[in-house]
This record gives sequence, C-alpha cells and structure tokens, in this order.
Amino acid sequence: MFGLETIVAWAKRRWFVYPGSDIYGWLANAWDYGPYGVQLKKNIQDIWRKTFIEKRDDMVWLDAQILMHPKTWEASWHVAWFNDPLIDDKNTWERFRADKLLEDLIHQKNYTLADLEQYWVSNLVPESRTFEQMKACIVAEIPHNPNTKKPADWTDVRKFELMFYTYQGVIHDEANKIWMRPETAQWIFVNFRNILDTTRMRVPFGIGQIGKAFRNEITPWNFLYRTREFEQMEIEYFVKETDAPAFFKQRQEESMKFWQEVMQFDQAHIRFREHEADELSHYSKGTFDVEFSYPWWWGELQWIARRGNFDLTQHQEASGTSMQYSDPVTGERYLPHVIEPSFGLSRTVLAVFFDSYDEEEYIDWNGQQQTRVVVRFPKRLAPVRCAILPLIKKDEKQVALAESLYSSLSDHVICEYDDGGAIGKRYRRQDEIGTPYCITIDHQSTEDGTVTVRDRDSMKQIRIHCDDLLAFIL
Ligand code: GAP
Repeated sequence: MFGLETIVAWAKRRWFVYPGSDIYGWLANAWDYGPYGVQLKKNIQDIWRKTFIEKRDDMVWLDAQILMHPKTWEASWHVAWFNDPLIDDKNTWERFRADKLLEDLIHQKNYTLADLEQYWVSNLVPESRTFEQMKACIVAEIPHNPNTKKPADWTDVRKFELMFYTYQGVIHDEANKIWMRPETAQWIFVNFRNILDTTRMRVPFGIGQIGKAFRNEITPWNFLYRTREFEQMEIEYFVKETDAPAFFKQRQEESMKFWQEVMQFDQAHIRFREHEADELSHYSKGTFDVEFSYPWWWGELQWIARRGNFDLTQHQEASGTSMQYSDPVTGERYLPHVIEPSFGLSRTVLAVFFDSYDEEEYIDWNGQQQTRVVVRFPKRLAPVRCAILPLIKKDEKQVALAESLYSSLSDHVICEYDDGGAIGKRYRRQDEIGTPYCITIDHQSTEDGTVTVRDRDSMKQIRIHCDDLLAFIL
C-alpha cells in the first residue's frame, strides 16, 4: 500500500480531490471533490443504495435537512455529551485530546485497562470518566509532551463542543441558535412517526439516508479520514426487542459481504471487530466495527450498533409524540429497538484510493522498462468505465465512428473521449484514473466495424465488433 503523500498528490493531479479554498491558502482540512472524485463518490453511493435499499422491500430512503429543531439535539444527549475532553501543555500551548492521549498510552505501553484502574479510568468510553480522573492519569503516566518529548505542564481537562452551530433568523442570540447535524441518524428517529403513519412499512423495517454531517473535530487529520465536514450513509433498522440479537448478527454478515464482495476490498486490508463491553457508548447494547488498514493504523470505516430504544424513548419524552409501534397482526404495542449500520462515505473514498492505487513496472513495445501508475478500481466504482480513443484524429471516418460510439455508450456508462497525443500516453492517462477499458478506433475499424479493447490491469488487447462492445464493458 502506498503512503498518504503519494495518494494526496495523485488525487489532486488527477482531478479527484483538491484542497478546499486552495487559492486563499487552503481552509485547513477542507477538501473538495473534483470531476473524477465526485463520480467515484457517486458510484459508491449508488452501489450502497442498490445493495441496502433498492434491492430490499424492507427498506425506504429519505433525504433530510441539515438544520433540525434544536430540541432534537437536547433529547438525543448530543448537547450534553457530544464533546471532546481537551488538555494543553502550558510549556508549548499545544492542545491534545485527553481521551486520545490515554488511548495512545494504552497502545504504546501495551497496557490493559486494568493497569489504569488506580486512576479510576475503568474504560475508554469518554462519558464514563471524569475530567479530574483523566488529568490525574495523564499527569502521572504522560509526563512528557508527545510531540516535543520535553517535560509537559498539563492544564486541567476542559470540554470542547463538537457540534457546529449557526443562527436561524436575523437576530444572532441564544434563542436563535441552531445546530448543524453531527450525524444523519437523528432525523430518522424524529420522523419515525411520520413514516409509520404515511407508509406501509411494518417492523422489521429500515430507513436509510446519505448526507453531510458536521463535527468541529479538534484534531482533523489524514486527508479525508477525519474532517469537519463529511458524508455518512446511515441505516436505522427497527426491530422487536427480542429479535434484536438475530438482526444484529444478520446486519454484520451483510456488511462483511458488502465490503468483501461488492466493494471488493483486498481481504488483508479489512477486518471486523466486536467492541468489548467496556468500549460501548452509553446507549449501546453491542457494537461491531468494520476497520480498514490505513497506512498509519486500522481505522473505523463503518460501525453497526445496537442502539436499543434509547433514541425513540428520548424523542417521545421530549416531544410528547408517541413513537410506539402497534403490530397490526398481534395488536402488541411497543417501542422498537434499533440496529444502526453507519457507513462513512468520505472514509470509504479514501479507503478505495489506498486499496486501488498501484505503481507497476512493465516492458513497453520498444523493449524498454517503464513504470506506470495504475489505479485498480473495481469496474463499478471506476469514475470512467471506458475511454474512446480514435487513433488518428485527422481521419474523418475514425472520428465519426468514435463520436458515434461515444454517444451510444454514454447512454449506459460514463465514457471519456480522448484524441490528444500518442496512444501510449492516452493509455497511461486512463490507467492513472483507473479506467477499466480503452477502446481504440483504427483504420481497420472503419472497414469492418471492429475496435480494440485494452484491459487496464493486464494491458492485453482484444478485437471485438462495435455491436458487442456494450455487453463486454457492462
Ligand atoms: N450515527 C452513528 C454515528 O454517527 P460514528 O461512529 O460517530 O457513528 C459513523 O460515525 C461513521 O462516520 C464512522 O464509522 C466514520 O466512517 C464516519 N465519520 C465519523 N466522524 C468522521 C469525521 N470526522 N470525518 C470523516 N468521517 C467520519
């Protein structure tokens, strides 16, 4: 796997991702998707939606507002709990996430959680530790600033709000403060009643959503991995409490199949991990992580949580609207439990970059050793499915055939027309953006209607008739 610097440089050079607000010197950790990046992202969304929503009759999908009623975030405990504990080194005024320092400590010293019990840090879940306990542990166990390696003079641990806010209306005061959603999930809970009343969905069923989320991360880092504005693909699946363990298992198996078979990740780059009881969030009755082997460490790509009925209970109490489900067959009334598969779309884009980017040596037609960048995107993810390359751009017949092929194939897949430069250079350009097929129109094509199709990975070429092209590249 290639390193982050290689990926960032390639992503910019080949129109995938640009630094946000680049001409103003970059808005730190903001990234914009360029023409190929946006198509890759869309292809991932399409595959996800097809797999988890369109091919299932127990799923619906929705698109919600980023701004929601402020009471949403009070009821969901985000206002009270969605914050990071921060600590500064007074010698350098560098700022660190206290929980992250503790996690690193545990990794580096190979501690078990029991080794830290003396500080009352009984587990890694931030909400279960007090700031005083964290500070006591940091002062005793991490006497040196991790960056400078010099003695640190630690401040108290303080709370740092993770939610962004803005104001609705012309007066910018507390009464008009409104949060920008830090996850897409809450909208689904808030609208659970609407869906029950207006659709024919019956438990067990799920609601999916793809959209932006905002978190004022204190340590955004590693390109698209942890940013302040990012995208999620989330599902809330509503089940009867007694069925929750079975559906939790089923959702894990479906997710594993998705990453391995549909997204076709290298098996060595992906792992599945069930959380220990003491890692769980306050509402969770079980959590399962899907992790990708990023060059720096394993990182969360998706999680599947058993959220119980915490969210529906909270919104029912706060709004006074019943979230009870009434079973039309048994007449039973209950608050459904929730299984939540939550996928990070931006992190998936980054994982696909790492999984697909390659540099390869080969011998060219002249017997010379060359190196090429070849991005081995799975066919369905590639931003461009095929490139249409007329060999001689001044040959009117070749151009006419190439244009007609471009027009007909573009009805089905994304194509790129490229008549600039030597054919070898054009192949290299397509390899670098991961185009699976290069279709070359030459002199023979205008006589017998056949073209050459070059395979990105093997670089082998075969000749096929234009009439058979679509079936071949689909
Ligand atoms: N509704 C549950 C929820 O939001 P989460 O683990 O906080 O759970 C789900 O987020 C997924 O969103 C993560 O697995 C990760 O892929 C992605 N994600 C979370 N924070 C992110 C950030 N700051 N930047 C990019 N992706 C992020």
